Parts: sequence; structure tokens; C-alpha cells
Amino acid sequence: MATIKNGRVLAIISFALFLVSLGKSEDLPCAARNVGIEGRSIVCVCNATYCDTITREIPAPRSFVRYTSSKDGKRFEKSYGSIQSLLNRTSETVEDIDPIDISIDTDEDEKEKYFNFDFGANFTDEFQDPLWKRVVIRVYTIIYRQEIEGFGGSVTDAAAINWRKLSDGAQRQFIDTYFSNKGIEYNMIRVPIGGSDFSTHPYAYNELPWNDVALTNFTLSEEDLFYKLPLIRLGQAAAAATNNEVKITASTWSPPVWMKSNERITGFGQLKPEFYQTYADYHIRFMEAYARAHVKIWAITTTNEPLNGIVPVANFNSLGWTPGQLGRWVANNLGPTLRNSSFSDTLILAVDDQRYVLPAWLRGMEREDPRSIDFIDGIAIHYYGNFVPSLVLSRIQQRYPNKILLSTEASEGSMPWNREKVAIGSWRRAKRYISSIIEDLNRFVVGWIDWNLCLDSNGGPNWASNFVDSPILVYPEEDEFVKQPMYYAVGHFSKFIPRRSRRIGVERWSLFKLENVAVLTPEGTIVVVMHNRRKSQRTVHIFITRLSYITFVMEPESVSTIEINPNTESD
Ligand SMILES: *[C@@H]1O[C@H](CO)[C@@H](O)[C@H](O)[C@H]1NC(C)=O
Ligand SMILES: *[C@@H]1O[C@H](CO)[C@@H](O)[C@H](O)[C@H]1NC(C)=O
Ligand SMILES: *[C@@H]1O[C@H](CO)[C@@H](O)[C@H](O)[C@H]1NC(C)=O
Ligand SMILES: *[C@@H]1O[C@H](CO)[C@@H](O)[C@H](O)[C@H]1NC(C)=O
Ligand SMILES: *[C@@H]1O[C@H](CO)[C@@H](O)[C@H](O)[C@H]1NC(C)=O
Repeated sequence: MATIKNGRVLAIISFALFLVSLGKSEDLPCAARNVGIEGRSIVCVCNATYCDTITREIPAPRSFVRYTSSKDGKRFEKSYGSIQSLLNRTSETVEDIDPIDISIDTDEDEKEKYFNFDFGANFTDEFQDPLWKRVVIRVYTIIYRQEIEGFGGSVTDAAAINWRKLSDGAQRQFIDTYFSNKGIEYNMIRVPIGGSDFSTHPYAYNELPWNDVALTNFTLSEEDLFYKLPLIRLGQAAAAATNNEVKITASTWSPPVWMKSNERITGFGQLKPEFYQTYADYHIRFMEAYARAHVKIWAITTTNEPLNGIVPVANFNSLGWTPGQLGRWVANNLGPTLRNSSFSDTLILAVDDQRYVLPAWLRGMEREDPRSIDFIDGIAIHYYGNFVPSLVLSRIQQRYPNKILLSTEASEGSMPWNREKVAIGSWRRAKRYISSIIEDLNRFVVGWIDWNLCLDSNGGPNWASNFVDSPILVYPEEDEFVKQPMYYAVGHFSKFIPRRSRRIGVERWSLFKLENVAVLTPEGTIVVVMHNRRKSQRTVHIFITRLSYITFVMEPESVSTIEINPNTESD
């Protein structure tokens, strides 16, 4: 009798423990591998049966959860803390330590009041840390900027072919680590329309018959059917399991060569005028074919990197557009055709090229035909011209306030001076990703899409030998893939900044600063990403009202995502 009772008690206790473990699911740590190169960080190894996981924990009221990755080897390491009050004295009124106002309506007077708050000497005396190691910022949840669309990577032929070389179990882990809530929850994908340089051979759709204005022979490629579409669909399904939608942006690199003035896949070549309408129809045909495979295209860009077919230094698939030509094609062909099709809600993102290309192309399009600007929904931006100050993005946002800015391509190792295409375990490359994402988000960019989701250990395949690095490298012989620091770099944003988060204002109150960006999530939490590029630590104080703040230490060469729940229990 007694034993049965005890057994029942034990069962109840273990069931309770099981429930607790469900609520606070244990994350699997990084299976770290030292890459054996001086100055590099570690990589995390995944295989068919193991891959590190990370769950986002919504912080309890008046507390925060911090996730840290570092050159030293931390990967999404969790720590916890609570919101503290600067004035902890009984004489303070409740208003002084009120939770922040998270209502959407911005009251201008309110804003003035906050910004004019006199930041007195008494305040800083409360902190023990030396002034030169201290970073103090204040986030303003009454100041709203752009709404975030999301983060992701590209399903190139190369990425999908590498992925398919893994066993089913390892393919599954790969999908989860990018798209599920055990991983970094990507909700954006870019896919080439036909081939790009990251293909095993140069190709387009409907290459034959020649001059086929009606596109009578348009069919998807083997790469679509056996590689790209399966990866996209599994990624979408993994995201859908937690009600996350993966939005697809598609771009053409080169149309079939018979449409082009030089009749070659690369080099100086533009569209022959007699095929302007055919090239617009080519995009519709692609969207129809993908729709038949149950993949909806959310946005198309107006052709990848139009400058490459004007100043032909690149040796891969391209199509040149002068600003005037692009304006004419969008206004007369692409715009009307798309809007009058069953894909009328698909976004058109213009230019899809480096920062230094954007102003001249947009102005040229506008000058050629203002309707081209009416037809576009946004502007797509690449990473390789980021030596141009990011101010150019704010200027564009001011000039075209109703258009979104989306970063559609980024990779490391592509520059001629990069002796190593793949620099395994490089923290420096992760740093460049983190700085770039923070900078873009602070300049009104709504989302950031990485280039190849994965590559082989040489940074390929690439038919034009234009090898680059990737956040995930695949080793088919070992049936494993490794996650480089760049994977965690993007994950510090993608995992914790859900779609429809709004960027919020940040003001610095200290001599020294750390790169940062802050958003308010749809759940009402504040997410701040902070980046310490330096080789020394910093003490950080983040104020969420003028009197309440959180404090933590940022170790050298590290990135932290801090999710703060500013609400009180009763909310
Ligand atoms: C997969 O990775 C785990 C963790 O590193 C390891 O214990 C296991 O042996 C690996 N499996 C294979 C088949 O290599
Ligand atoms: C504020 O008050 C709480 C509870 O009274 C106390 O635990 C905490 O140490 C105080 N903080 C400071 C900075 O005085
Ligand atoms: C600093 O504190 C003292 C005493 O609490 C107060 O009289 C003084 O006005 C404060 N100074 C500022 C700048 O807030
Ligand atoms: C249609 O395209 C295929 C290649 O995808 C080619 O083999 C075939 O000859 C083309 N058909 C015609 C009528 O040109
Ligand atoms: C729109 O499409 C319909 C058929 O789908 C066609 O009859 C009509 O001419 C098109 N309009 C324009 C402006 O292209």
C-alpha cells in the first residue's frame, strides 16, 4: 500500500519535473571544434544526430534574458537579470518608476520631455565602474522607426546541392538550425531565377528555341526540382510549425542569351529592345512554375546587379541596365505586366546592387519615367560597396519614404584582396556581418538576407570560380556541417527580432559607445543587440525609463542580444 502511494508520488513528481523541463527546454550546446589556426574562433559541428539548439525565452516581467556569443567561444550563452531602479527610496512616487509607455501613438510633447531630461551628475555616481569602461544608453519606446520584415539567406543551386549531399538526418538538422525555433528562425529566402555563378554551369530558362518571344519552352531546371524547391519547402514547413512565414525574394542574373545584345551569359550586354516584354513575361512564368510547386514569391528584384552588364568586370551571369533602360522596362513592361497578373501583390524591388549604384539608378529611372518609381515597392541593396557611408540609405529613405529598403545579398571573402575565400572560424568576418546589420537597421533597412545558406569547404561550387565564404560549410564525406561565427552573427538578429518588430530610438549617455540597435517586438518586449568590437570589456547600462535600467558586462570581442520585459506582473 505504502509503496504504491510512494510510487504515485514519485510519478507525480517526475511528471512535474517533465513539465518544467518542457517549459525551460534544455538547449544543446555547441559541439565546438578548434580549427587549429592562430587567431580564429571555434566552429560548431552538426551531424545527423546532433546539432546545437537555442530557444528564445521570453523574460519574466521586469527582467531580461541575455544571449552572448564571443570570439572566445561562447555561442548564444544565456544569462539573466532584472530591471533595477535608480532611485530606490521610499519617498519616490510611483510615477518615477512607472513601466515605460509602449503605446503606438507618439506624443510629441512626451518625446520632448524625455529627450530634455537633465542627466545629472548624481546619476552616474551611482555606478562603481570607471567612466572610460562604461557605456550608457537610453532606449525610447515612444520613438518608432521602420517595421522589420525579417532575416534569412539564399537558396542558390550551390547551397541546395551541398545540402543534398548530406544524409536525410543531417539535412533535417540543417533545416532546423536555420528555420525552426530550435535554430535561428530565418523568415526570408532569396532564390535566383535560373542560374547564377553559384551553379555548376551557366544557364537560364527557355534557352531554346532562339528568339522565342512567347516563351513556349519555359520549364524549371533540375536544380529547381531536385535541389532548390525541396530545401525551400522544408524550410517553410519548419518555420510554419511555429507560425512563422518564410518570404521569398527572387532575382534573375541573366536571361537566355538570345534576349541579350551580346548573346553571351556574361560581359557587356543589355536586353534587346524587342524582348523587353518577353523578359517581363519570363518573370511571370517563373512565378507560375514556383506557384505550381506551392512556393509563393513575395518579391522580385529588377535583375541582380545591373552594373555588371555595363561595367563588365564580373565574369558571371549578368544583364546590364542603364538607369534609363531600367526605368523604361519597369514603367512599360514589368510594372504593368505584374500588376495585371495573378501576382499583382508581389513586390518589385529596384536596383538590387551596391550602395554606390543606388542614387544614380533611382534618379535615372525617375527621370526616364516617373511611373517606374510608382511601380516599385522598395529598393534592394548589396553588401560589397559598404565602404560607401550608410548615410546614402537614409537619404534614399527620405526621398522615397513609401518604399522599403531591403538588404538582399552579403558574403565575406569575395574581394580580390581576400586571399582566403573561406576563412574557417573567422570572428573578424562575423564582426563585419554584425556591424553591417546594425548599421543597415539603423538606416531604415527592413531586412537582411545573407548569400549562400551553405557552401563546400572551398566556397563553391561556382562555375565562374567566384568562390566566397558562407556561415555553414558542408563536409559530405563526414556527413557533417560546421556552423561558423557568421551563422551566430546573423542569428543574434534573426532569432530575436521577429517580423513586425519596430526599431526604436536609442540615445547615448556616455563618453564611449558600442554599436547597437534596439527594437520593440510585437510581444511588447525590448530587444537590443550590442556589439563590442574591442579587445577589452565594457560595462553596459541600458535605461528603459529615466529611472530604470539593466546592467551587465560585455566581454571583449562579443555580441549580446538582450531581451527585456519592461512590463509589470499585472500587464
Ligand atoms: C555526431 O555528433 C555528436 C556530437 O558531437 C557525436 O557525439 C557523434 O559521435 C556524432 N556522430 C557521428 C556519426 O559522427
Ligand atoms: C533596492 O531595493 C531592493 C528591495 O528593497 C533591494 O533589494 C536593493 O538592493 C535596492 N537596490 C539598491 C541599488 O539600493
Ligand atoms: C544631486 O543630489 C542632491 C542631493 O540629493 C540634490 O540636492 C541635487 O540637486 C542633485 N543634483 C542633480 C544635478 O540632480
Ligand atoms: C526546349 O528546351 C530543351 C532544354 O531544356 C531542349 O532540349 C529542347 O530542344 C527545347 N525545345 C525546342 C523546341 O527548342
Ligand atoms: C490585363 O490582362 C487581361 C487578360 O488577363 C488583358 O485582356 C488586358 O489587356 C491586360 N491589360 C493590360 C493593361 O495589359
